[in-house]
Amino acid sequence: MDNRPIGVFDSGLGGLTVVRQLMRLLPSEDIVYFGDTGRVPYGNRSRETLIKYTRQDCRFLLGQNVKRIIAACGTASSVAPHVLRSLPVKAGGVVEQAADAAVRATRNGKIGVLGTQATIHSGSFQRRIGEQRPDAAVYPQACPLFVPLVESGWIGRDDEITILTARRYLEPLKAAGVDTLILGCTHFPLLAPIIGDVMGENVVLIDSGKTAAEDCARQLRQDDALNRTKKAGELHFYVSDRPENFLSVASIFLGGEVTGDIHTLDIEQVDGAEIDMVYKR
Ligand code: DGL
Repeated sequence: MDNRPIGVFDSGLGGLTVVRQLMRLLPSEDIVYFGDTGRVPYGNRSRETLIKYTRQDCRFLLGQNVKRIIAACGTASSVAPHVLRSLPVKAGGVVEQAADAAVRATRNGKIGVLGTQATIHSGSFQRRIGEQRPDAAVYPQACPLFVPLVESGWIGRDDEITILTARRYLEPLKAAGVDTLILGCTHFPLLAPIIGDVMGENVVLIDSGKTAAEDCARQLRQDDALNRTKKAGELHFYVSDRPENFLSVASIFLGGEVTGDIHTLDIEQVDGAEIDMVYKR
């Protein structure tokens, strides 16, 4: 048994899609979430900067005495996996499990990958798929505009701007005949209905946040590291800046109403603002 919290970080709010899955799978676990909302987006930054940010995010979570860290960010997972491997606690990203799930799901061997510029440029998903299934044809597509659309809450299935953007990004993959599509950025599951509409019902969408959360749950069970003292785990939420419509967007990501008090902490000590959130399922 291990009663310490699980640490989760992302560049912004997208990683809450992973938190949502963790809460579903592991309702007794405490979770500490760090959203680097002051420095989002990560997806168009340099490798050096991303390595530095990933180190800082992990250091912050380690200071919260977490038992495990999930990089709920396709970009950090893709560009800085060595940082995750170097930590004193087990840590994982969102790449491997999603790539493996796509290899299992594809029927025609044509797999699309959606991610940020940095994720696609890193070749992380392409490499992992190639290791598992060398004959697979991989079609990577950077979708940087999806991130601000999601962070703005423009995720309604009938949102014209988002639909047009999705069509522009997805048409080449559709034309190539992919039958499986990895949502390689933790913001993208929020756009799954629109992406599914554009791609058609025969294309399997792989949610990289979901596969990462499932892997974390499996590992905690395997290591006998679950928190067995609680009925309902707590969510502690830290951000490096507070966007205007923060709570409403956070509620969308978590799939339930979120209310909370916001405490601004000494930036020298914590480097951010703490939000104590109450999450109602
Ligand atoms: N959540 C980040 C990811 O999964 C994308 C957003 C960003 O560019 O910061 O890559």
